[in-house]
Amino acid sequence: MRAAVLRELPGEFAIEEITLADPGPHEVRVRIVGSGLCHSDLHVLKGALPYPVPTVLGHEVSGVVEQVGDQVRYVAPGDHVIACLSTFCGHCRECLSGKPHLCHNPETLRGEHEPPRISNAGGERISQFANISGFAEEILVHEHTLVKIDQRYDLGTVAILGCAAVTGMGAVFNTTQVEAGATVAVIGAGGIGLHAVQAARIAGAGKVIIVDTNPGKLDRARMLGATHAVDASSTDAVEAVREITGGGVDYSFECVGLVGTAEQAYDMLGWAGTATIVGVLPAGSKVSLSSLGLFQERRFQGCSMGSNRFRSDIPRYLDFYDRGLLDIEAMISKRITLDEINEGYAALERGETARSVIVFDH
Ligand SMILES: NC(=O)c1ccc[n+]([C@@H]2O[C@H](COP(=O)([O-])OP(=O)(O)OC[C@H]3O[C@@H](n4cnc5c(N)ncnc54)[C@H](O)[C@@H]3O)[C@@H](O)[C@H]2O)c1
Ligand SMILES: [Zn+2]
Ligand SMILES: [Zn+2]
Repeated sequence: MRAAVLRELPGEFAIEEITLADPGPHEVRVRIVGSGLCHSDLHVLKGALPYPVPTVLGHEVSGVVEQVGDQVRYVAPGDHVIACLSTFCGHCRECLSGKPHLCHNPETLRGEHEPPRISNAGGERISQFANISGFAEEILVHEHTLVKIDQRYDLGTVAILGCAAVTGMGAVFNTTQVEAGATVAVIGAGGIGLHAVQAARIAGAGKVIIVDTNPGKLDRARMLGATHAVDASSTDAVEAVREITGGGVDYSFECVGLVGTAEQAYDMLGWAGTATIVGVLPAGSKVSLSSLGLFQERRFQGCSMGSNRFRSDIPRYLDFYDRGLLDIEAMISKRITLDEINEGYAALERGETARSVIVFDH
């Protein structure tokens, strides 16, 4: 089976043959149809997020169940599924307190002494990235990584719900709970930020301000629901947002992954505003917050995968899609093949694409 393997950090993908183990009792093997290119994998490629190599990246996939372990009841061969990296065990403190996206119980992984899920003909162990390793023709995952979806959806399109929608929309609906009429600023009009914009529109936010340094990204955001756009390559983003809102926004969402934009997200808040940092900042970085902002009861919070409960969130998002409220197609700039993955990431880095999706032609 073919996969894009990463052997060095920073590095490039090489297409290699890999082997998946037989499913354990709670594991499922899925034939991949769509696999989205998220910026988080680009952080790994660039060496900003350390990860053991060799590995297969990719964590935003859809596909068809091929084979299930003997304890799996939730899905059967032939079912259509979307994967989300927030694998939950279902019985730890985080899972039972309504935060299954924060589950870190290692029992959903294979232990160090068990045969690995992914290897190759030479017997080399290949680490699984984000519980998924989706830049491959097939994946082997714990059953609690999957949500079953209706077969009428185009799998090459809805793959991006698995990270971009779950994260960007979840940041608005779950992590922050934006109320109708509230003012919102989204920094970064990529796959994550554009979903945050759509969620803010669906939530009935008042002003929805998109901020990006790439002016080419602003039009799509306006089309998807932004009421105002700030070109941060030529304007001071904080001043512009303060001016548009007459003092600062109620909610800001950093969807870039830089310390500077995380600080801007805090600085553009009004009194009692909340900044939600969705972007993954470089490992080990620190952020400074103004003391004045703390006195004004501004909040600064993290966000892991949109605080999702993906088995109930993704069906809700598909319902928005059915009703024409969520535009998924507009988020997909390009459909590519597995062999084009290095160029796909180069285009993301150059700012030419929102989401590219690898579509497998089995
Ligand atoms: N918290 C989570 O669980 C989670 C999940 C998925 C992705 N992420 C992170 O979210 C971030 C966005 O991911 P994406 O896939 O949407 O990336 P993307 O590359 O598609 O989008 C990033 C956008 O930010 C813009 N940008 C760059 N520098 C900027 C600046 N200084 N000011 C304003 N805009 C700027 C770019 O032009 C681009 O439009 C990444 O850091 C990614 O790792 C986090
Ligand atoms: Zn992602
Ligand atoms: Zn758990």
